[in-house]
Amino acid sequence: MRKQEKAQREGKNRSRPRLTRRRFIQTTGAAGVGAATSGVLRPGTAAAETVDYPVKPIVALDELSPGTTVPFTYPDDRSPALLLRMTAGVVGGVGPDASIVAFSSLCTHKGCPVSYKPEHRLLVCPCHWSTFDPEKAGSLVIGQASQPLPRIELRIESNQVVATGVAGLIYGRHTNLV
Ligand code: FES
Repeated sequence: MRKQEKAQREGKNRSRPRLTRRRFIQTTGAAGVGAATSGVLRPGTAAAETVDYPVKPIVALDELSPGTTVPFTYPDDRSPALLLRMTAGVVGGVGPDASIVAFSSLCTHKGCPVSYKPEHRLLVCPCHWSTFDPEKAGSLVIGQASQPLPRIELRIESNQVVATGVAGLIYGRHTNLV
């Protein structure tokens, strides 16, 4: 038996190129997948046609006592979100004590609206009980979901809490700005 035939039978065909990480990224564009935080590229448009997120005032800073939640929509009216003022500073928080955060309300599993459970300080989905931690950037604690909740980027402007972007893809969308 010739050497090449023998190698093929033994599954040792070295003529097939190995799929390296670099090669995978080159062929699939996987490195380009990620959350846009200052603007998004609409499908089918050139880089010069990126669209910026709206800057949207949500609530006055002095109306937010610790434990307050404020429902709102962002970046458009079809996208429910929830702003929370926690009792202490948290990951990604804004405001005087870095305790204010906001997330898309749509569960990353199948899009049911999550709600805040103050007794556990967690965001819980009523459909299949995925649970997210608003004190740790919306990370998944347990459940069917596999992604954290998209985080609404905030800043303080003239005593207002203002939404300025979204980190993560909102459930059910190909792009956050549609
Ligand atoms: S839709 Fe939220 S856990 Fe399934």
